Amino acid sequence: MKKDQLNELLYQMLETEMGGVEVYRAAIRCATNADLKREWQKYLQQTENHVQIVTEIFENLGLDPEAETPGRKVVRHIGDSLVKAMGMALSSATPEAAQIVAAECVVLAETKDHLNWELLGQVAKKAKTEHRRALETAQEKVENEEDEHLYHTAGWARELWIEFLGMPAVMPPPEEEKDVKTAIGAARAKQARTEML
Ligand SMILES: [Fe+2]
Ligand SMILES: [Fe+2]
Repeated sequence: MKKDQLNELLYQMLETEMGGVEVYRAAIRCATNADLKREWQKYLQQTENHVQIVTEIFENLGLDPEAETPGRKVVRHIGDSLVKAMGMALSSATPEAAQIVAAECVVLAETKDHLNWELLGQVAKKAKTEHRRALETAQEKVENEEDEHLYHTAGWARELWIEFLGMPAVMPPPEEEKDVKTAIGAARAKQARTEML
């Protein structure tokens, strides 16, 4: 394991979660569907908890949570851009369109968040014994929530677009109804949507 690169992953993870809090705050302002708003409020709370969990990993490994890296700056820039994009949509688009922009922004943010935790799972298996337990515990706690954040919101983005286009949509999306927690489950849920109409 390359230690500097592992630290880089952790810095990016912390920045992704901190940016995620701001992304959810903006997305909730764009949400008009009550079910979606409730989902995102739950994901916001979970993301605030993820910031805490990553901070505890930093303490465990003796890393400075304030340390700046070029990769971390890029993650922050992307997060800020997503928040700005939602602000633009909120001030210039219809509420229906702004909600779709928010769903797409959450999917973009969660794609990175999901990848981070997947990678941490790989790292945990190879970590030195003294750190393995802490990394594994953190990863197990968060992994299912990250699956839900990504797959369920991707389902919302698709169904909101379908409704926007004037076609029959499944609301809440099949990913929500079937409580999808894996990529294969998401593919199955998508396939089942026509039967759910
Ligand atoms: Fe997260
Ligand atoms: Fe997430």
